[in-house]
Amino acid sequence: METSNRAVYRVWQFWQLVIAQPLESEDEAEIAVILNPDELELFFRQHISEQQHAVRVMRTLKEAGHDDVELLAAALLHDVGKIEARSKWWDRPVVVLGQTLLPAQSAHWASRGKGKDDWHRPFVIKKCHPDWGAAAAASCGSSPLTVSLIRRHQERLKGNQQSKEERLLALLQWADDQN
Ligand SMILES: [Fe+2]
Ligand SMILES: [Fe+2]
Repeated sequence: METSNRAVYRVWQFWQLVIAQPLESEDEAEIAVILNPDELELFFRQHISEQQHAVRVMRTLKEAGHDDVELLAAALLHDVGKIEARSKWWDRPVVVLGQTLLPAQSAHWASRGKGKDDWHRPFVIKKCHPDWGAAAAASCGSSPLTVSLIRRHQERLKGNQQSKEERLLALLQWADDQN
């Protein structure tokens, strides 16, 4: 994504966060056929804006013709790790600014433990939420493939994706990037 497009995307993403509304009953019915009851409970522990983000990622995949249930479950749960540290609305802009202006320092801040209450918390959440989310999903009985997709959703993929998991991971990242 070009820098100007990314800036527009960030503004749009921030606006989605501001105007986020609880899910409609048809959204809830749609996700209830994808997630098991424990996963569903985990999903609803997310902030409303994260629930909406997850549903948009899931819909983007479905509308592109991808209906693998393990992939759709990963789409709905990929950011659940953020509930571990109660993300704040300003986390995303802080991380984007930090990674753009001070990349080395941002990596250092991200490595400073769980840091839930510290000012470097946004960087820790950004780095660690895939692992936290994968552990939470595993404890709710998510399939090993779904858990792995959640754990790897920020991983930079190289070259052609040969395995089923890597093909699904590329799709998840493509849909996540648009939402
Ligand atoms: Fe994420
Ligand atoms: Fe995401």
